[in-house]
Amino acid sequence: MILRRTTRIKHVAFRRLVPPIVIALWGVLLLVFLYQIYHFTWVSDENYVLSYRTHDWKEKPKLPERTNLSISLEKRNGLPPRNLDLFPNLVNDHIVIVLYVHNRPQYLKIVVKSLSEVEGIGETLLIVSHDGYFEEMNKIVEGIRFCQVKQIFAPYSPHLFSNSFPGVSPGDCEGKYDLSSKKNCKGDRDLYWNYRSPRIVSLKHHWWWMMNTVWDGLNETMQHLGHILFIEEDHFILPNAYRNIQLLTMLKPQKCPRCYAVNLAPADVSSRGEGLASLFVEKIGNVGYAFNRTVWRKIHSKARDFCSFDDYNWDVTLWAKVYPSFGGPVYTLRGPRASAFHFGTCGLHLGQEEKAACFNNGSVNIVLEKADKIVNINSDWEIHLVKHKTLHQPGFMGWGGWGDVRDHQLCLDFAEMYHSGNNPKP
Ligand SMILES: *[C@@H]1O[C@H](CO)[C@@H](O)[C@H](O)[C@H]1NC(C)=O
Ligand SMILES: *[C@@H]1O[C@H](CO)[C@@H](O)[C@H](O)[C@H]1NC(C)=O
Ligand SMILES: *[C@@H]1O[C@H](CO)[C@@H](O)[C@H](O)[C@H]1NC(C)=O
Ligand SMILES: *[C@@H]1O[C@H](CO)[C@@H](O)[C@H](O)[C@H]1NC(C)=O
Repeated sequence: MILRRTTRIKHVAFRRLVPPIVIALWGVLLLVFLYQIYHFTWVSDENYVLSYRTHDWKEKPKLPERTNLSISLEKRNGLPPRNLDLFPNLVNDHIVIVLYVHNRPQYLKIVVKSLSEVEGIGETLLIVSHDGYFEEMNKIVEGIRFCQVKQIFAPYSPHLFSNSFPGVSPGDCEGKYDLSSKKNCKGDRDLYWNYRSPRIVSLKHHWWWMMNTVWDGLNETMQHLGHILFIEEDHFILPNAYRNIQLLTMLKPQKCPRCYAVNLAPADVSSRGEGLASLFVEKIGNVGYAFNRTVWRKIHSKARDFCSFDDYNWDVTLWAKVYPSFGGPVYTLRGPRASAFHFGTCGLHLGQEEKAACFNNGSVNIVLEKADKIVNINSDWEIHLVKHKTLHQPGFMGWGGWGDVRDHQLCLDFAEMYHSGNNPKP
């Protein structure tokens, strides 16, 4: 996911007016800030006390009522992987690959083509997690023949609910909070006074549902002890990606015992790597990251932080809220040359429609070099720490889009759904 945000600050240059204006502005900001804090903690307290203090681990979370479509998709999630005839066995110590997608078939075709050329892909299981049900996306995944494939569909995706939560339900507030029309609508605004948008919240919900399901819900992977690699529908995967990630996971305990993850690409999505003869240690990037169950348990233990932080981006939520609570730097290990990169240009812009002119005709010109086809990491290399300016200062409260208590609750329910007594297996 590419995060693009624009803030416009207009400077007013009436010198004599500056001091009183500044003082007045500070006053207003302080009031807004105090109100936010009040609103925020109030919201958190009431709801989490309700759902957590009285929480009985044996009780089934109250997930939204499913639509017929979500019921039938949930059944499909229990089907065995495809291509068992071609790939009856997974190789020991395989790294499961999870590809999470929404609805950009032109991109998915490119990604699947790139995966088909990955050395070693036939040794592992590819799980494709769908946010919503789209025939064209489905067709592409059904066409995969190069490894075991399992498709799963997020049954509570807002895209599957046309008339009820997690989609838009009748009486929901929409758009911006409006003082003038004292509303009788349902919903909580975010830090920036916007009400929930199902299209926007679906990203974080899908990521969280997928993580919970892959680690704790699917019987193909719930016992998996090794790493799982996560990629997205607009990540091009180079032929050496699988062998490189295998090597990195092997090197991690010696080279960087404090690293939580390994990455196929630099955290800076516009970089393809330094090309130096060195390993790199830096913050966990959102392109091609892999970690193990120990790390998942740690993330899962912060479900309340993840679910209540007012940011619709799962990655910003991790960086700004979840990882800082681990009590120490959260690093990843990677090579000097990217084995995956983000090629999509249709980013999601909060509060805007997707850019009309976004690239989408499926032609990316990617020239593979020899170094992209073979393992290009050397075990003898030293590590090099990449320092990042902290993007999010302590006290950063999120980019918004995630203010509705119903979303917080659904998110918490996802965290519990495989840990309560009588949960349905997908
Ligand atoms: C959902 O399925 C049930 C049982 O099969 C059926 O009675 C009902 O009409 C369906 N609802 C919709 C909206 O299709
Ligand atoms: C998953 O569970 C089903 C039913 O319990 C079982 O038949 C199947 O063998 C299991 N698959 C794996 C990979 O364990
Ligand atoms: C998983 O990774 C973490 C972080 O690198 C490491 O400390 C832990 O020992 C690993 N767990 C297993 C079971 O390998
Ligand atoms: C795709 O778009 C690019 C740039 O807009 C253009 O040059 C190219 O001809 C298009 N390809 C197809 C197959 O439409």
